[in-house]
Amino acid sequence: MKTGEIVSNHILQDDYYEIKFHAPEICKKTQPGQFVHIKIANLKDRILRRPFSICDVSEDGLLTVIYKVIGKGTKVLSTLSCETLCDLMGPLGTPYSLPEADEFPIIVAGGYGSAATYLIARRSRRKGILLLGARSGNDLILAREFAEAGFAVRSSTNDGSQGHKGFVTELIAKALEDNKNKKIRFYACGPAPMLTTLTKMLQNSGYNDGELSLDHLMCCGVGACFACVVKVKAGNEDGWRYARTCKEGPVFKVEDIYTGES
Ligand SMILES: Cc1cc2nc3c(=O)[nH]c(=O)nc-3n(C[C@H](O)[C@H](O)[C@H](O)COP(=O)(O)OP(=O)(O)OC[C@H]3O[C@@H](n4cnc5c(N)ncnc54)[C@H](O)[C@@H]3O)c2cc1C
Ligand code: FES
Repeated sequence: MKTGEIVSNHILQDDYYEIKFHAPEICKKTQPGQFVHIKIANLKDRILRRPFSICDVSEDGLLTVIYKVIGKGTKVLSTLSCETLCDLMGPLGTPYSLPEADEFPIIVAGGYGSAATYLIARRSRRKGILLLGARSGNDLILAREFAEAGFAVRSSTNDGSQGHKGFVTELIAKALEDNKNKKIRFYACGPAPMLTTLTKMLQNSGYNDGELSLDHLMCCGVGACFACVVKVKAGNEDGWRYARTCKEGPVFKVEDIYTGES
């Protein structure tokens, strides 16, 4: 457990905020896709920590999280001022692996999924494509930062306010067509329906070279309570077993994810 001092906390756009903590020891160890479990200061009536992907880390020990205000914890988080101290546990979870030199990365991100995958873009030597989806233009976050990291950004919104009108998974066929002679490696993080569609699409077309982050409601964050289980494939009679997303995930290989189809 480490103490992280808030050095900035401000609105990014719409309900999204960016918070930075001074947390040099966590920063040193962080790999893409890992998360911090935050005990939110001033949240008096709740003892549970809240998990957030580590969006970015800097050499001078600043850890960035992008969060959307959706409930009581994130509402209180958005009110915390500079110099407030929070207990941080991390970095936690299994990370994404970076693409090999011969692999072309395609990242599929929905909502805050772009924050969870941003470190891949920054650290990958091979630059690829970000397919970024959201309900409306106000929910598309980090497009500029991905572009600055060398990724081509293609976006979609459900309401058509920005980019392709429809689901982000509808952008995949064209991205594959445009890069058909390359060895593609998929990465993804986003809402459960997006990840289920993507998993079925990839498993059915044989694109098993990929890793998806399955963010689930969490409690302890360290593998002790089993509050966060999802089904993964297994060689037993049922064909699946439970895996803890906080410990064995949140990042899983596409080929291991169980969707009910074998
Ligand atoms: C590994 C991981 C990484 C995450 N990274 C980020 C991130 O980078 N940015 C970000 O904004 N959020 C992220 N989340 C989600 C974040 O943890 C929740 O939004 C937060 O805990 C909500 O706290 P709250 O007290 O505001 O909401 P609560 O009052 O606890 O809940 C409000 C509503 O949101 C639902 N909810 C809470 N957590 C989740 C969840 N994980 N998935 C789906 N629904 C949920 C609840 O069921 C409830 O309906 C991540 C979650 C996980 C597990
Ligand atoms: S949150 Fe307790 S085991 Fe995952």
